[in-house]
Parts: sequence; C-alpha cells; structure tokens
Amino acid sequence: KRPAGAPDKEQARPVTKVGVVGAGLMASQLALLFVRRLEVPVVMTDLDEERVSKGVGYVQAEVDKLLGKGRISPDQANRYKSLVSGSTDKAVFADADFVIEAVFEEMSVKQEVFGELESIVSDECILATNTSSLSVTEMASVLKSPERVVGFHFFNPVAVLPLLEIVRGEQTDDAALATAFATAKTLKKSAVLVKDAPAFVVNRILIRVMAEVIKAADDGTPLDVADNALLKLGLPMSPFVLLQLVGPAVGLHVLESLHAAFPERYPVSENLRRLVEAGKPGIWSWDENGKPYLDDETAAL
Ligand code: 3HC
Repeated sequence: KRPAGAPDKEQARPVTKVGVVGAGLMASQLALLFVRRLEVPVVMTDLDEERVSKGVGYVQAEVDKLLGKGRISPDQANRYKSLVSGSTDKAVFADADFVIEAVFEEMSVKQEVFGELESIVSDECILATNTSSLSVTEMASVLKSPERVVGFHFFNPVAVLPLLEIVRGEQTDDAALATAFATAKTLKKSAVLVKDAPAFVVNRILIRVMAEVIKAADDGTPLDVADNALLKLGLPMSPFVLLQLVGPAVGLHVLESLHAAFPERYPVSENLRRLVEAGKPGIWSWDENGKPYLDDETAAL
C-alpha cells in the first residue's frame, strides 16, 4: 500500500551511491543503516580526519558486533566493511545519487553545506536533511535547484526505531519525494509524510514532555521523582534518559527552535541551558549496577 502522500514509485530515482555529510552520532548510525540495507557504497565526510575515522570506525565496529551476534555472515560483514569509506573532501560525492546531511543543527551551517554540495553533485542527485526541527523549505531556499531537497528525519537509536519522518519542502518535487519513500522502504523504515512545520510531529511531543519534566523540577519536584514518574506510564525510557541518548545540546537546540515558533508552549529551562553549557553528557550518572543517580555536581547546577 502506498503511504499517504507518497508519489507514484515509478518516479523514484535509483540510488547506487550514498553520501553522508557528518560523521557524528546520527551520521554514523545512518551510514551503518545505508550500508546494511541498501548494500551500496556509502561515503562519509567531516571536517577533519579524526572525526571521519571515528565515524567509519563506528560502522566497522557495529558490523563486527552483528557478525558476533550471528546476525550476518562473515561474507556480509566483509562486504559491508568494504562499502563504507570516509573523506574530508566532499568531492567524493560527485557520483552519489543521494546525499544526506546530519551536521550541526543550525540553519546557516546546513545551508552552507547544501550550497557546497550543489556545486559538486550531479543534477539528478537528491539532497536530504536529517534535521530534527529546522525548516526544509528555508534550508533549500539558497539552492539553484531547491526541488531536489527533502527532509529525511530518523530517530535514535536508528538501527532499532522504525519511524522515519519524510518532509516535503514547498519546492520539493515528486522525484525527490518518491526517491525518499522508495529509499525508506529499502531501509525497512515506516515512513510518514509530515508538514514542514517546526520540529515536524514527533519532536514537538518528545521535547514538550522533556521541557515539562524539567519545568516540574524547576518548580520544586525533585528531578529524579519527576523523571521516573513518567516511566510508570509505560514509556520505554524516562524523558531524561532519552535526553541523554539524543544529547542535551541537540535537545536544547530543538527546544530553542520550538520556543522561537511557539514561545508560550515551549519555555526554555535555564537549568537545561546550564547543563548544556557545563558540557554535561546528561542529568543522570549510572552506578556499577546500572542504577541511575544524580551526581552532586549536576544536582548543584
Ligand atoms: N544504539 C544502538 N542500538 C541500541 C541502543 C543504542 N543506543 N540501545 C539499544 N539498542 C539495541 C540493542 O542492542 C538491542 O538490539 P538487539 O535486539 O539486536 O540485541 C535492541 O536495541 C533492544 O535493546 P534492549 O532490549 O537493551 O533495550 P530496550 O528494550 O530497553 O529498548 C530502546 C531500548 C529501543 C532504546 C528503548 O528504550 C526505546 O525505544 N527508547 C526510546 C527511544 C526514543 O524515543 N527515541 C527517539 C529519540 S528523538 C530523536 O532521535 C529525534 C532527534 O531528532 C532528536
């Protein structure tokens, strides 16, 4: 069955080489998924060799883990490893059909990346963004061919969560959208077409939940009590363990985008800002038994 809003699949372009801009937390997980499901060459780029090697190293280590668990054969493991590579030079994207960016969540940075890509890739190449909250239309507006840009938003952990939000910008054409849906299918993700609105659909809810829990803590309920109370509703993770998984800096960025769009609904907690500015990986620490606790330094922030 064709997903709601998806164009005819005949309009999809073949994807025979994928580019991933960025080699961080999300980008590396994306590269692994593309290698495994599309089985085409996947090349990652980042600002320096160290970041690139870390991203490629992550994919190779995860492939080894899959082999160790017996999920893939030694032949598949070797094949996947040979398909992933990295570079600091975006010229490697010249023959890619589908390039996805997963760089810093800032409009000017993403526009600059897309501008640079447009001068390198072929006319047929689709440019996708994994943005969590920014406008796809605005991101594409700096390009000569904005119709090739599509939002392709994954959820952490990428290997496990089936959802994918596909975003049609005002200028996105049917070929880009059809390619996005066809690629999502090969990746075995459940794609939904969402409007190009601040933080789309899912992050509006998740970030609101996190913001309300931290607000409850700001208002005096101990943070661990407020956070754990939500777990008893049957969520797979408490909001602040989830914030740790996503990364507090990313969470704060999404919250700030939502605050700019809907100031009343998304107040920015100063406690969250302090945590991010202090460079903390999250609110919780874990003891040797895997039990979360609030360390004194974080509690004092
Ligand atoms: N990375 C990769 N794989 C992971 C993982 C991680 N961080 N955490 C767990 N997994 C894998 C495990 O290896 C295991 O795989 P296996 O079956 O092949 O061995 C599988 O997930 C299940 O693991 P567990 O049995 O240990 O874990 P749980 O049943 O507790 O589930 C969870 C773990 C899937 C992470 C679950 O807690 C969950 O769904 N949490 C909510 C995640 C969520 O809401 N994410 C959305 C974040 S928002 C976002 O990403 C958008 C962005 O724009 C900000």
